[in-house]
Amino acid sequence: MPTADDVAELVADAIQSLVTRKPTAVLGVATGSSPVPTYAALAARYRRGLLSFADARAFLLDEYIGLPAGHPQSYRAFIEDNFAALVDFPEGAVCGPDGMASDIEAACHDYEVAIADSGGIDLQLLGIGSDGHVGFNEPISSLASRTRVKSLTEQTRLDNARFFGDLDDVPHHVITQGIGTILESRHVVLIATGRSKASPVARAVEGPLAAIVPASALQLHPHATVVVDEEAAEDLTLVEYYRGTWANKPPWQRSI
Ligand code: F6R
Repeated sequence: MPTADDVAELVADAIQSLVTRKPTAVLGVATGSSPVPTYAALAARYRRGLLSFADARAFLLDEYIGLPAGHPQSYRAFIEDNFAALVDFPEGAVCGPDGMASDIEAACHDYEVAIADSGGIDLQLLGIGSDGHVGFNEPISSLASRTRVKSLTEQTRLDNARFFGDLDDVPHHVITQGIGTILESRHVVLIATGRSKASPVARAVEGPLAAIVPASALQLHPHATVVVDEEAAEDLTLVEYYRGTWANKPPWQRSI
């Protein structure tokens, strides 16, 4: 896509189409900067009466451990402020891992059960970390992993310090859906925009499948879509092939 706004509109098209054909759809929602324009595009469409989340549900991808409820940098608060509160999800329809649970392992297990009980995630949004992580599955995460505790790499803590202001305030530990959990979603949509994502995108899409680049696990998914702007596409080797397939996309295929 030429720009980050075009990326957002295309991904919003896919989500609009999903909730229109399946109003009870279950979304997997990522935090961080990458999906924010998509959430804004969805909120704008909601205000224009083009879509509704009144019967839909959403599961967060991950959460920091130890940030109290309502902490502005908790992912629960982030999704509330940037998406859920701007549309019409009913009370209790947006769930996240409990980063304040006294028994974190039980909370991880309960989260897996809640996702399964919902019927599974129809469309999982993802960003990609500069180290190739998806969710907070840092390099060398098991490609079969389930929801569990992970320690953040120093690179990820540095990347996320911009949200906290001070590196010391960035938690070291998180709960994240595992790679195995993510791969069970029926459609996975990874959003990457900007030059800093060019290298991890190329490694994930065109590099070997390897735990050192967790996002490369999406190569195993039967319906994974990577939506990039021009800058994030800069390191892709087969970029002309991708442009050609997009330009010649059959009209009977779904948008993504
Ligand atoms: C967020 C998440 C992370 C981010 C990734 C990219 O829920 O799980 O994997 O998607 O760190 O972050 P941004 O989009 O801020 O560059």
